[in-house]
Amino acid sequence: MCGIVGYIGKREAYPIILEGLKRLEYRGYDSAGIALYDGSDIKLSKTKGKVADLEAKAATEINTSGTLGIGHTRWATHGVPNDVNSHPHYSNSGNLVIIHNGIIENYESLKKELLKRGYTFESDTDTEVLINLIEDVKTNENVKTNENVKLGKAVQIALNQVVGAYAIAVFDKNKPNEIVVAKLGSPLAIGIGDEEFFIASDASPFLEYTKKAIYLEDEEMAIISRKKGIKIRKIKNDALVDPYIQELQINLEQIEKGGYEHFMLKEIHEQPNAIKDTYRGRLRAKEGIIKMSGIDDNLERILNANRIIVVACGTSWHAGLVSEYIFENLARIPVEVEYASEFRYRNPVITEQDVVIAISQSGETADTLAAIKLAKSKGAFVFGVCNVVGSTISRETHAGAYTHAGPEIGVASTKAFTTQITVLTLIALKLAKEKGTISNSQFHMHLQELELIPDKVKKALKSDSHIKMIADIYKDAKNCLYLGRGYNFPVALEGALKLKEISYIHAEGYPAAEMKHGPIALIDEQMPVFVIATKKGHYEKVVSNIQEIKSRSGKIIAIVTEGDEDVKYIADHVIEVPDTIESLTPLLTTIPLQLLSYHIAVMLDRNVDQPRNLAKSVTVE
Ligand code: F6R
Repeated sequence: MCGIVGYIGKREAYPIILEGLKRLEYRGYDSAGIALYDGSDIKLSKTKGKVADLEAKAATEINTSGTLGIGHTRWATHGVPNDVNSHPHYSNSGNLVIIHNGIIENYESLKKELLKRGYTFESDTDTEVLINLIEDVKTNENVKTNENVKLGKAVQIALNQVVGAYAIAVFDKNKPNEIVVAKLGSPLAIGIGDEEFFIASDASPFLEYTKKAIYLEDEEMAIISRKKGIKIRKIKNDALVDPYIQELQINLEQIEKGGYEHFMLKEIHEQPNAIKDTYRGRLRAKEGIIKMSGIDDNLERILNANRIIVVACGTSWHAGLVSEYIFENLARIPVEVEYASEFRYRNPVITEQDVVIAISQSGETADTLAAIKLAKSKGAFVFGVCNVVGSTISRETHAGAYTHAGPEIGVASTKAFTTQITVLTLIALKLAKEKGTISNSQFHMHLQELELIPDKVKKALKSDSHIKMIADIYKDAKNCLYLGRGYNFPVALEGALKLKEISYIHAEGYPAAEMKHGPIALIDEQMPVFVIATKKGHYEKVVSNIQEIKSRSGKIIAIVTEGDEDVKYIADHVIEVPDTIESLTPLLTTIPLQLLSYHIAVMLDRNVDQPRNLAKSVTVE
């Protein structure tokens, strides 16, 4: 969690850092702060609240000039969100200042030692401990070596005593021509301009200035000097690293709202193109070919798998659940879908014959990453499905496939979900073909149907005003139930998650048949029940479940196949989606549920793109 930004160069740092923080607010938004150096002193302003609050405060509190600076937008881990716990943090001398994304796990023992040595702490954060540890190392080394130890050296020695995760940026007011950055477990990109450098958690803060970037690897640090450029070293053994400079492919428009009121709405509407981008170059329906290098290059290994274990969190876990139905049904490979956070601590049975598929939009989720490392240590082959190119998970896995959905900025995942399902469907179809578990005609039919999905999603999006009207009726509900069966059971879970996370209305997703084993007791005339009742699969069974709800006076909002005449007479409202084959229905049925949550949240005046207590990438356990 948390977003970090830094700048050193010829321009004024303040506007660059402030705009950068706004772009990184998806990573955390409970407090924000900035530290600038103007040639004589550090000027620091920080506050509880959003970057807009910082902007208002900084304008009255500090002179914002200076060509070097660092900024932070926070998702609290240690210490409540308040002004004091906000970053940046000073060292006791006031000479050093730091921003940090991550968690220092052994901060309490480090703090105890520092307290014994006379250090004092204003905040409850682990970060203030780290900056004082750096200061302590620097002071001790100065005495030991009888010379002024460089900041980079002090940072390196201190980080070798630290357990945890970090992306940090530090500067010293007595050495104001350099910023020292380091990374372990949290992302850190360095943008390289003309005699200027940008630091950020992702490239979005510097896209308009440069397309050249270095992504630091874990356990690397960089000394970024106004005069001498960049030097990258291994934190453990001080070895120099040759910087690998990447040419960025994303552009500014992709990270702007493009006329939509919220990123979430934009991203919902981007799904037809996002799905197309996901299968572009991979799916050749006419020729009956699916090309995916990550699979092609490891085909034997994957085909010989005893089973597939999917690890993921949140919405990505729901996409994984959909894939369980697809893999088992089409490719006849046994699948287990695991919450990464449970899997990693469960001492699971993993063998060298297992293939683990890790799904993650951000590619940074700490639990998913830990699950990958565990699976690798047991000899499993790990395949990543990520959206963010170059992310940690994409680099930690043996092979993988990107979803190519483009940047997803709204905290609630939408296009990531549908594009993850698209990638997983392609993989399942490819394996099914290779294994011979699907007939030629079925295979071709699936490919052709998949190619039609973007247009069908477009059509499903056209129900927007009807859905808005339904949202208005149910926006004041206190509880909601979401039901689905088979492929659409995970969609029910996802629908409920979308509603709770952005509207703060309690919602439960259930397999429709499980309703009578408990949740049916909740049903009365106050309870809206959203039922996915598309024509394929267990349609008749779902219709029976709808009858059961009806006879207990529940309000039924059904997602049905276009032209359905039966459910219309039982349900209070129906929302139609185009017809498709059963395995692809989740790509359509999820659309109205996304829109519904969106409209309810807007009507309730919630912060749709930045719901309370959440952050886009969860880089802590
Ligand atoms: C919900 C949501 C989260 C994420 C989860 C995993 O809308 O966005 O539940 O799906 O935090 O994140 P990734 O996919 O980045 O690993």
